[in-house]
Amino acid sequence: MTSLTILGSTGSIGTSTLDVVRRNRHLYQVYALAAGGNVERLTAQILEFRPKAAVVATSDGLARLNQSLQASGLTRSEWPELLAGDEARVQVVRPAEVGCVISAIVGVAGLEATYEAVRLGKRIGLANKEVLVSGGALVMDAVQKYGAELLPVDSEHNGAHQCLRAGNRAQVSKLILTASGGPFRNTPIEQLSKVTPAQALNHPTWRMGNRITIDSATLMNKGFEVIEACWLFGFVSLEVDVVIHPQSTVHALIEYSDGSVLAQIAATDMRMPIQYALTYPDRFEAPVPKIDWTEARQWEFSAPDFQKFPLLKLAYECQEAGGSATCTLNAADEIAVEAFLQERIGFLQIHEVVQETLSRLPSRTPQSVSDILEIDKESRVLARELVTARAAGAVTA
Ligand SMILES: NC(=O)c1ccc[n+]([C@@H]2O[C@H](COP(=O)([O-])OP(=O)(O)OC[C@H]3O[C@@H](n4cnc5c(N)ncnc54)[C@H](OP(=O)(O)O)[C@@H]3O)[C@@H](O)[C@H]2O)c1
Repeated sequence: MTSLTILGSTGSIGTSTLDVVRRNRHLYQVYALAAGGNVERLTAQILEFRPKAAVVATSDGLARLNQSLQASGLTRSEWPELLAGDEARVQVVRPAEVGCVISAIVGVAGLEATYEAVRLGKRIGLANKEVLVSGGALVMDAVQKYGAELLPVDSEHNGAHQCLRAGNRAQVSKLILTASGGPFRNTPIEQLSKVTPAQALNHPTWRMGNRITIDSATLMNKGFEVIEACWLFGFVSLEVDVVIHPQSTVHALIEYSDGSVLAQIAATDMRMPIQYALTYPDRFEAPVPKIDWTEARQWEFSAPDFQKFPLLKLAYECQEAGGSATCTLNAADEIAVEAFLQERIGFLQIHEVVQETLSRLPSRTPQSVSDILEIDKESRVLARELVTARAAGAVTA
């Protein structure tokens, strides 16, 4: 029986992880659930999975969780330990009985706890790609040093992980990550300035949290995935290609030096990669629709349009630049996406804000998690100023 700490239990990946647990109760139990502020969902999860600890982001959230548990009728002696804040998330990955941590918080808020799990040499199912985008060098050094097992949950990286098992890493020439192309794949570039948050949230193939969905519409998400892949598998960015594949069924391809290409193919259901990260190197039945190979189908592949989706290009440039560039890229993008969702800036201004934040901050080499958090904070402050200027109409596209 493996005990799990699930960081981001109330999100899209978190709830899918709990479904994998629900279907495999003989194998997994929950040690801790960590959420942001959705106490209603967290209460329901506590009632069903009976963790030893539950964490929310703030003290206000803690008070609401307390009330919600009281209203649920759960006897006090059956309550988990209730905690709040950044240090509490770190605390619930530490116990020796926690065999695996699922890192599924969105953004840099998941970094410290994930890093602690790495430092303790645990198995980590990594969905929170911002951990590697912001702190790739530091995290991967620690993975090596402490012998942690970092298993990718992101479907493309999970696919690559599977394809890489077939051969010798030294004989790999290329990784190809697929991208659905998002809701604006066929939208003419001149119409992008007018698209709304509702249109951008309407992802054609995946149901995910808001940030990753907007990042998929700008292809920033694919850029983050290029960076994540470089750190996870030891590629330089030029060895990682992106191709548009609207059906989202081929997740990743690995090209070996003899020209042979292996592809990983599965339905669009995150429970498969989550379960893989838990059960690796074994495989078990998963509740994922199987592909009917006798059914007629068409799979398309094409090159991404870097002019229409400049954030993808920027991600390559930041990864090549190294240092703090990718940390700033992530932080500025998070602020710009939030402002777009609040209709304070337009879709094309997401790139403007990110690009300007990057150009105005000096590059540094973070040496610690606190350095990364400091650079992240500084980048956010500047990105917010740039958003405010645009929202006030002081800057127009
Ligand atoms: N969804 C997918 O299919 C998918 C696929 C590949 C990779 N990923 C990656 O997985 C991560 C999670 O994505 P998602 O789609 O599951 O996002 P999501 O649905 O928005 O869920 C995010 C989770 O993070 C929690 N959270 C947010 N801010 C927090 C904070 N300050 N402190 C503590 N917890 C906080 C949220 O809590 P509350 O809701 O309680 O506030 C929620 O549990 C992202 O890095 C994403 O890029 C997702």
